[in-house]
Amino acid sequence: MLRIAVMVSGGGTNLQAIIDGVKDGTITNTEIVGVISNNRNAYALKRAEENGIPSLCVSPKDYETREIFNEKLLEAVDGLQPDLIVLAGFLVVIPPAMIQRYRNRMINIHPSLIPSFCGKGYYGLKVHEAALARGVKVVGATVHFVDEGTDTGPIILQKAVEVEQGDTPEVLQRRVMEQAEWKILPRAIDLIANGRVRVEGNKTVID
Ligand code: GRF
Repeated sequence: MLRIAVMVSGGGTNLQAIIDGVKDGTITNTEIVGVISNNRNAYALKRAEENGIPSLCVSPKDYETREIFNEKLLEAVDGLQPDLIVLAGFLVVIPPAMIQRYRNRMINIHPSLIPSFCGKGYYGLKVHEAALARGVKVVGATVHFVDEGTDTGPIILQKAVEVEQGDTPEVLQRRVMEQAEWKILPRAIDLIANGRVRVEGNKTVID
């Protein structure tokens, strides 16, 4: 049984997709052992509570320095003894020590087809604003392992989504969530839970 810890900062719709996937069998061999947020007001924490999943808030605001916060965050994660960490809209920079300890055991969902519209400054609506400004006809989402870079780790799954005439950033964001994020993140977790993802260099092999 794969023990997963989900890290969130906002509404938690990706967390909800994971919760629903475990319930309906889309995600097999997996247990959500905890949800951690940096934002005590994150609705994602309410979703965890409503589903009987242990949750906790570790906020940088509660610690004098970023170093102390980083230590406390890693302590909280280790305390859950996860096999896999899932960043589902987690907006805090991951401490280097955590990236090392969970190398190839930490995944992130990014709302674009990496390497487009990713890297520093590309998160949330900003991704979709940039896509619309560039006039691309296809966008999408990517699940990837987390390494020391920003959105640079080995790609696991991607799914394309059509841009429609008149799309606003909000409308496009919602379509990418519904048609891509909420599908490929659960699928990636299920593949990992069943030992079907291998990392070879900067790429993955899905068996
Ligand atoms: C999603 O758009 C995800 O791609 C990005 O942050 C957002 C999180 O949304 N990383 P939610 O909290 O899962 O609703």
